[in-house]
Amino acid sequence: MDPQREAARRRTFAIISHPDAGKTTLTEKFLLYSGAIQEAGAVKSRKVERSTASDWLELEQKRGISVSSAVMRFEHDGHVFNLLDTPGHRDFSEDTYRVLSGVDAAVMVIDAVNGVEPQTEKLYAVCRRRGTPIITFVNKMDRPAPEPLEILDDIEAKLGIDAHPVTWPVVPEGRFTGVVDRRDASFHAYGDSAHGSRAGAESSEPWRDALDPSGMAGEELALLDELGKDVDVKRFLAGESTPVFFGSALANFGVRLLLDAVAGLAPPPGPRETRDGDRRAIDDPFSGFVFKVQANLDPRHRDRLAFVRVCSGTFERGTALTCARNGKRVVAKYAHQVFGRERETVDVAYPGDIVGLVNATDLRIGDTLFDGARVEFPPPPTFTPEHFSVCTPADRSKVKQFRRGLEQLDQEGVIQVLRHPDLGDQEPLLAAVGQLQFDVATWRLEHEFGAPVRLRAATYESARATDEASVPKLRTLRDVSVYYRSDDVPMALFRSRWVAERVRADHPELRLDNVVFS
Ligand code: G4P
Repeated sequence: MDPQREAARRRTFAIISHPDAGKTTLTEKFLLYSGAIQEAGAVKSRKVERSTASDWLELEQKRGISVSSAVMRFEHDGHVFNLLDTPGHRDFSEDTYRVLSGVDAAVMVIDAVNGVEPQTEKLYAVCRRRGTPIITFVNKMDRPAPEPLEILDDIEAKLGIDAHPVTWPVVPEGRFTGVVDRRDASFHAYGDSAHGSRAGAESSEPWRDALDPSGMAGEELALLDELGKDVDVKRFLAGESTPVFFGSALANFGVRLLLDAVAGLAPPPGPRETRDGDRRAIDDPFSGFVFKVQANLDPRHRDRLAFVRVCSGTFERGTALTCARNGKRVVAKYAHQVFGRERETVDVAYPGDIVGLVNATDLRIGDTLFDGARVEFPPPPTFTPEHFSVCTPADRSKVKQFRRGLEQLDQEGVIQVLRHPDLGDQEPLLAAVGQLQFDVATWRLEHEFGAPVRLRAATYESARATDEASVPKLRTLRDVSVYYRSDDVPMALFRSRWVAERVRADHPELRLDNVVFS
C-alpha cells in the first residue's frame, strides 16, 4: 500500500491536561466511537478500582495515576488514530516530553470549572515550543461553570494563545442545554446518553429554529462573529491559535464533534526535520525513532519493548533496519501494537503509527532506525534533574539484580543513574526530574528485578550537564561535584541552587547546560 495515502488518514496525537480534568473519561469515549471498546461502563467501576484500558500497572492502580504511557490505536470514519497517552500525575516527568515529541497534534482538556491549571500550562509550553497544533476541549460543561467568555479569556490570558470557539455552549440561567456549531449554525441539544455509556448519535437542527435568536446565545454568537473569532487554519497549524470545543466527556456530549475535528483539522504526519537540517519526506524509505523504552510492560510477558514512531516509508516486520547511533542491524522480527494490556502482532505500519519492537535490547530512547540511506532525527529533550538520592541494595546478595535493574531503568529514562569516577558502581546516585520517579524506580527494582533498595537523600539541589573541558575547574570548586551519566556526559552537581547560580556568574567560561531541547 502507498505510504503517502496511508499517512494521509492517520492522526497521531496526545491528550494534555491537568489531573482530574477528564482525560481518562474522554479517552474512553473516543474508544467507544471507534468500537475499540463496547461500553464505557468502566466509568462506574473505576470508582472502585480506577483502571482503564491504558491505566493498568499495579503501581498506577494503587496510586490512581498513570505512570507509563501506553499507545492506543483506533479507527473512526476512515481515519486511523494513534493516541499516545501521557502520564497524568502531578509530577513533572521527562516521559511526558518524550511522548510529545512523537505526536503531530494535541487535544488540550480543560475543566470548565477550574479553568487552565498548572500541569496544563507546563504541557502546553512544551507543545508551543515544538509548534504542535492544539485543539481545546472545555470539559464538564454539565456542571455549573463560569461564563464561556470568561473561560476563553482564561485560556488566552494564561497560555497566550488565541482561542477560537468552533462550538459555543448555550447556558441559559446556568443550565447547560447544548452547543451551537458555528460552522453550520446547527444546535446540538445536550442529552445524557445513558450516562455516556454508548456512542449516542448527536442530533442537530438549525439554531435559529431551536433557540430564541434574540436571547443570550444569539447575542454571544453575534459578538463572536463581530470579533472575528473564526478558526484560522494556518495559525492553528503553527500552534498560534486553538479551536475550542465545549462538552461533557462524562455525558459523552460534544465528543463526536471533537473527534471529527481531530480527523478534519489535526494534521496528518508530514516531512520530519533530520539532525542535519534536511527533511525526511513521508514517502522516503522507512525511518522512525524510539521515543519510549519499557521493560516488563506486561508481567505475563516479561520482556522489553522499544516504541518506535514511524516517520517515513512502510515498516515491514522482519526487515533488517539500521540504528543510526551505532550502525548496528536491527531485525524487527517481533513487532507489536500495544493496547493497554493487549498486544497484537504488527506486520506493516505507516508514517504516524507506533510500533513496539520486542526485545530489541540495543535500542535506546532517541535512536533513529532507518532502511536505505542513513538518516538521523534530533533526539528528544533530556532535562537536568532536581532530585538526587544515593541508592544502595537493601539485600547484599541481590547486587546482580540491583545492577541489572538500574541499567534497565536508566535506559528507559525512568531515572538517571549518575556515578562518581572514584566510586564507580558503589553508591550510584539516582537523579530525577520529579520525586515520583524515585517511587517508580524503587517499586520496580523490588517487584520486577527482585532487588529492594535503600534510598538516602543526597545533598544536591541542582545539576547541569557540562563538558570535559570544564571538569578540571569544576572539581576545584566548593560545594560542587562532578558525576557521570551513563552516556558519559559529565554532570556538575551543586549543593544548592544558589551555588549553581554563583558558579555560573563567576565562571562564564564553564559549560553549564540546563534543559536540552531537540
Ligand atoms: P483524568 O484522567 O484527567 O485525571 O480525569 P478522569 O477522566 O479520571 O476524571 C476525573 C473526574 O472527573 C472523575 O470523577 C470523572 O468522572 C469526572 N469527569 C470527567 N469528565 C466529566 C464531565 O464531563 N462532567 C463531570 N461532571 N465530571 C466529569 P471522580 O469522581 O474523580 O471519579 P469517578 O469516581 O467518577 O471515577
